[in-house]
Amino acid sequence: MTTTALRTAARVVGAVKVYGGGDTAVHALDGVDVDFPAGRFTAIMGPSGSGKSTLMHCAAGLDTLTSGAAYIGDTELGALDDRRLTLLRRDRVGFVFQAFNLVPTLTVEENITLPLDLAGRWGDREWIDALVGVVGLGDRLHHRPSELSGGQQQRVAVARAFAGRPDVVFADEPTGNLDSRSGGEVLALLGRAVRQMDRTVVMVTHDPVAAAHADEVLFLADGRLVDRMASPTADKVLDRMKAFEVRS
Ligand SMILES: Nc1ncnc2c1ncn2[C@@H]1O[C@H](COP(=O)(O)OP(=O)(O)O)[C@@H](O)[C@H]1O
Ligand SMILES: [Mg+2]
Repeated sequence: MTTTALRTAARVVGAVKVYGGGDTAVHALDGVDVDFPAGRFTAIMGPSGSGKSTLMHCAAGLDTLTSGAAYIGDTELGALDDRRLTLLRRDRVGFVFQAFNLVPTLTVEENITLPLDLAGRWGDREWIDALVGVVGLGDRLHHRPSELSGGQQQRVAVARAFAGRPDVVFADEPTGNLDSRSGGEVLALLGRAVRQMDRTVVMVTHDPVAAAHADEVLFLADGRLVDRMASPTADKVLDRMKAFEVRS
């Protein structure tokens, strides 16, 4: 055999997530099978309430599935006790959220190396330096978050997410609080991390322009995976979104 399958950084199989019960039960995920290949930038799109954040949280081990299974690499998250799950989230997964969630009393540099410090790991200095270079914050390392613009703060959060070389970085609406120029910088940065540094990114967004930075876009509707698009452009994504709206 000479074929080499893409390595899978994360995946969910038969993912079902039900919130509540009885008449008011919400099927946030209604049987999703998807894998996120390593070394790729995948975007998850869909209307508000379609289950994007739920899928991300369950795939990342921040929330548990009602049924089905979620894996980071070959590790099934449902098989881990709380302690192992905490360690897995700390060591193998990175997160970027809409709110930057930096520690205000720490400098930029300390924020970036915080996950490594918490893990008692010696930061790989070359890797951190490369990251700082890629995020373009070399002259801000000793500033506090409050001295930075929103876009700069989110770039710090991105660098922090990659600091421990996790298997996969999950980003939930990472440009949701940013103007389009700063948002574009953050998206370009995520793209560079994937293409120049061989990282894996899964990004939830409802913005076609943001999704166009990905290698592939997955479309969710009503908790189901309804379509996927390789080599997306903002126009193609927008057209696809409109088609869903017409149908539903
Ligand atoms: N903690 C929760 N409790 C009850 N319902 C929830 C909870 N979180 C999400 N939901 C519901 O699940 C569905 C999917 O939500 P979500 O994954 O946040 O969608 P999206 O990120 O695509 O906007 C929505 O109907 C939402 O109201
Ligand atoms: Mg959401």
